[in-house]
Parts: sequence; structure tokens; C-alpha cells
Amino acid sequence: MAVPLFDTSTPLIGLREELRAAIEAVLDSERYILGPQVSAFEREFAEHCGAEHAVGVANGTEAITIALRAMGVGPGDEVIVPSFSFYASAEAIPPTGARPVFCDIDPDTYCITAETVRAALTPATKAVIAVHLFGNVAAVAEIKALGVPVLEDAAQAAGSTTGDGLPGALGTAATFSFFPSKNLGCFGDGGMITTSDDQLAERARILRFHGSRDKVSYEQVGYNSRLDELQAAILRVQLPHLHEWAEGRRLAGRHYEEAGLGDLVGLPRPVAGSSPAWHLYVVSHTEVERLQGALAAAEIACRSYYRTPIHRQAAMRRWGANVELPATEHAARTHLAIPMSPVLSRAQADEVAAAARAAVG
Ligand SMILES: Cc1ncc(COP(=O)(O)O)c(C=O)c1O
Repeated sequence: MAVPLFDTSTPLIGLREELRAAIEAVLDSERYILGPQVSAFEREFAEHCGAEHAVGVANGTEAITIALRAMGVGPGDEVIVPSFSFYASAEAIPPTGARPVFCDIDPDTYCITAETVRAALTPATKAVIAVHLFGNVAAVAEIKALGVPVLEDAAQAAGSTTGDGLPGALGTAATFSFFPSKNLGCFGDGGMITTSDDQLAERARILRFHGSRDKVSYEQVGYNSRLDELQAAILRVQLPHLHEWAEGRRLAGRHYEEAGLGDLVGLPRPVAGSSPAWHLYVVSHTEVERLQGALAAAEIACRSYYRTPIHRQAAMRRWGANVELPATEHAARTHLAIPMSPVLSRAQADEVAAAARAAVG
């Protein structure tokens, strides 16, 4: 039985009529940019996270750039960011004028910690980007206790929870991506900034709209970066189901544990106090190529996401040269994402475990 890496369509089958109606209502309204759907979704998403404000933007990458600028990050500043993440986590920093400073991760959770951030702190540090990688939730409170503002990159962590609250309400601000494969995905590009800081939210609103409040006077050099009405309407239909989909992702993780996968490969470990809605289910093995080849031969989709860490990408050479991050290098060499979705069944998990057992058991 072939097992896909994601399944973004099955969870939407029962919502198709509602989605069509929502799209049609936008067509009827003839409002496409910054209208009632975006405002309503911003309110609903802020409430979902437990934040005061949500500001819809064009994608999760610009969400980071705009949030950093709204936090006051600019030329001459340093922003600490993990190198084991999607490239955009760091790519979003140079457009602010600041420089990325790469830090290491905890090898078990793939997230940054207060300890790994401390090693990268300097008097020029203006912010830390805590990436909630693969749906795990970085220990934001411990990082904040170092005395530096934290921007959560929660692109992969919609639906995850912690004892301290939800991603989106843990740091000074947070950013989300609604890229179609995400835990909460739209039908194109979309992003969000959340914060409980009134002034930060106001600055983000101005920045996403050409640096203007009214498109008459321009107080900043900003961006044209807005979530659109169609995507907001689509996301409003889906948001009430996020919790149930997150539970499905947690259950899929338990299926893997019960199938005995943990005896064969390293399983992802939740950060203490967090309950991840796994976006990607990333296992590790020292002979990961053998595992990858065997899974692929058994028609089980799998993928290494970040084989080359960000600090070793050509575009980051200026900031990444001479940086040594042993846990990042190890994770980059040994990780492998295996199938994960809200509807991954025990039978599918058994199939994956059997193929893994045949390869590395
Ligand atoms: C951790 C992380 N940060 C940022 C982004 C950027 O989001 P987008 O693709 O919406 O620009 C993504 C996803 O694509 C991501 O996974």
C-alpha cells in the first residue's frame, strides 16, 4: 500500500460545499483586498491563539520580515535564528537590514533552547526567532528569560499547544504561514502576524500596506503584503476544524509509537510542556540513506528537508562562514520526514514500520 507524505485533501472532503459557498460569497461581494473576510479571520485567529491582534499578510516569509521591523529590528542589529529550519526563517532577516546569527538546536527536539541562544547572544542582539520546527514548540519562556524579545516562527505549528498557551501568544510576536501543505493551509499563499502589543500590531498593519494608513500619506517604506479575501474566507471555513486535525496528527504519532517504530529509528520528542500537532513527522537514523531507499522502494513517501543547513547555503555565506553547529549538522545528516497527516491510519503506520524494520531492524 502506497503511503503519501501528506494528505491535504481527505480532511477537506466534507468541507467542499462550505468552501465553494465561501468562495462564491467573496465573488458576490466583489471585495477582494482587506475586506470583511480578512478582518473577521484576523479576529478569529487572534482569539484562537489567545493573542490580542492578528495581522494578515501575503505569506509566512514576509510575515517574519514585517514582524521583525515592527519589533524595531533594523540595520546594525543581530537576529538569532536556528540554521536547522526552512530557509525562509533566516532569509526574512536581511531585508530588515539586520544580520542573521545562527544558533544550534537541541538534538532531540530540533528546536532552539535558552542554552543554544545564549551561545549566540551579543550586545547587538535585537531579537531571537524561535522556530517551532515540525510542530514542536520551542521553550519560548526560557528564551525570553534571557532578556531578549522573541519572535515565534510558528509556520509549522498551527494546532500545537503548550501548558503556557498556544504558539502565537508565547513570544513578543509570532508569524504563521498558510502555505497549502501547512496544518492550516489556504489555496495559495497566505500568512499572519500575531501579537498582544498594540503598537507592534499597528506598525505591522502600516508596513503591510505600503507603509501607509490611508494610501495617501506614506510614513515608512513598507510592503504590498496582504492576505486576500478569498484566502481568508477559505481559512475561516477551516479554522474551526484545526483542533480536530491537530488531534489526528497526535494520534498518527501514537500509531507510529504503537507500531514499534521507536525501536528502529529516533522518534521526534516533544519539548517539555508541549503537545505538538506534528506538521512533519521527522525520524532519525545514522544510516538514513538506507532507510530512505527502502521506504521509497516500498512506495512510502519520505523526504529529507534540510540536508544542507541554512548557514551553509550559498546565499548565507556572508553570515554563515566559520559557524559551527554540531547538533544542526548531525540533524541535517540523519533526519527523514515520513508520512504524517490528520488522517494517517494505524494500518498505514504499520506499513511504514514494517518497511523500516526490513531496512534497519
Ligand atoms: C519554518 C518556516 N518558516 C517560514 C516559512 C515561510 O512561509 P511561506 O512559505 O508562507 O512564505 C515556512 C514555510 O514555508 C516554514 O516552514
